[in-house]
Amino acid sequence: MLKGKKILVGVTGSIAAYKSAVLIRRLVSAGAEVKVIATELAKQFITPLTLATLSKNPLLVDFFNPENGEWNSHVKLGLWADAYVIAPATANTIAKMAGGIADNLLLTTYLSARCPVFVAPAMDLDMYNHAATRRNIGRLVQDGVHLIEPASGELASGLEGKGRMEEPEVIADRISQFFASPFVGDALWGKKVVITAGGTVEPIDAVRFISNRSSGKMGYALADRFRRHGATVTVVRGSVDPRLPGTVEGVCEIEAGDAEDMARKTMAAAVESDVIVMAAAVADYTPESVSDVKIKKQGDDMTIRLKQTRDIAASVGAVKRPSQVLVGFALETDNEEANALDKMKRKRLDMIVLNSLRDKGAGFGCDTNKVTIYRPDGTRRECDLKSKSLVADDIVKEVIELLERAERKSK
Ligand code: CTP
Repeated sequence: MLKGKKILVGVTGSIAAYKSAVLIRRLVSAGAEVKVIATELAKQFITPLTLATLSKNPLLVDFFNPENGEWNSHVKLGLWADAYVIAPATANTIAKMAGGIADNLLLTTYLSARCPVFVAPAMDLDMYNHAATRRNIGRLVQDGVHLIEPASGELASGLEGKGRMEEPEVIADRISQFFASPFVGDALWGKKVVITAGGTVEPIDAVRFISNRSSGKMGYALADRFRRHGATVTVVRGSVDPRLPGTVEGVCEIEAGDAEDMARKTMAAAVESDVIVMAAAVADYTPESVSDVKIKKQGDDMTIRLKQTRDIAASVGAVKRPSQVLVGFALETDNEEANALDKMKRKRLDMIVLNSLRDKGAGFGCDTNKVTIYRPDGTRRECDLKSKSLVADDIVKEVIELLERAERKSK
């Protein structure tokens, strides 16, 4: 997968810099063309000769080549690369990246890069856990950087914990996996996508709640696919199946509890977004009052009064701009098409994805889905039963088309 790929490796001043030699070797032997940018401090940890020899290219550190005055253009480097991997990335470099500071070639190139950027942090466990570092890493992830989380183990300081840069073989594999997808593209580069996923949890008392069987699989498959097309993705996540592979690399997650909490967080994220996808199973009703303490057993039966929740899709639909694309889902058991079309109209959706529980392999918890996609202009596209990832591809394709249409209209 790495054959012929142009990869920039950024090396910063960390004891883990020696591992970048192995990473570069690995990338080169997999057929990639590699150029290396190092910070001034990195040269204290690994020699320029090692980095230049292994990458088969001169090491880049300064804005100008000190010998002949030639400009090392960060813009050209940023455009040249198919991927930029900063490994090891120190807390200092991560903070500067998060703040948009550009005081060395590695950082100016980061700001110019149009390619996917991978960051493999390396630092002591307390630095890694510090609120400032957490915030900066969170910012980078929100900005679309692919985080290659550090491993746990013995650290150079002698302490034990998370902070050790991931092994070079693993980093190379992650980059390779990224390119392995046949769907990598940049059609959604610079676009912001918000996806609601999973089920909401409506509290009854201090220990009980009402929820549903939504697994979050469809929402996460969509997050992955949108991400692979270059979008910056935020998932507003309710309860999901614990067996779900979990965090999608490069995707920012916001946890939501009940329907109102999900509504507030989604509405806030939607303001700045280009695409909003409502894949969550939001409770239609929530207990009218929530007891702070555990409700004691009383009598033979009990009644819980419920009140209607806010319809998140409809609330976004009511305020959305013409350039924004709003996608909804409908899970129906009967009168499928009529119900789906009615929902699309009521919630002012630009597209509705219908899955019928009558179809085997569709709906909650399955790894597959069989959907029909409707648009307000009367377009109807029936898809075969396929994996949720492939269904996500179909949806992303439709969204790209809708965004292009909206852009043409606004011109
Ligand atoms: N939805 C939402 N907020 C709600 C209820 C639903 O955002 N409070 C969204 C869902 O995420 C989905 C779409 O609206 O994208 C349709 O959800 P569905 O539950 O099928 O629609 P309802 O309007 O609740 O209709 P009903 O339950 O009567 O079928």
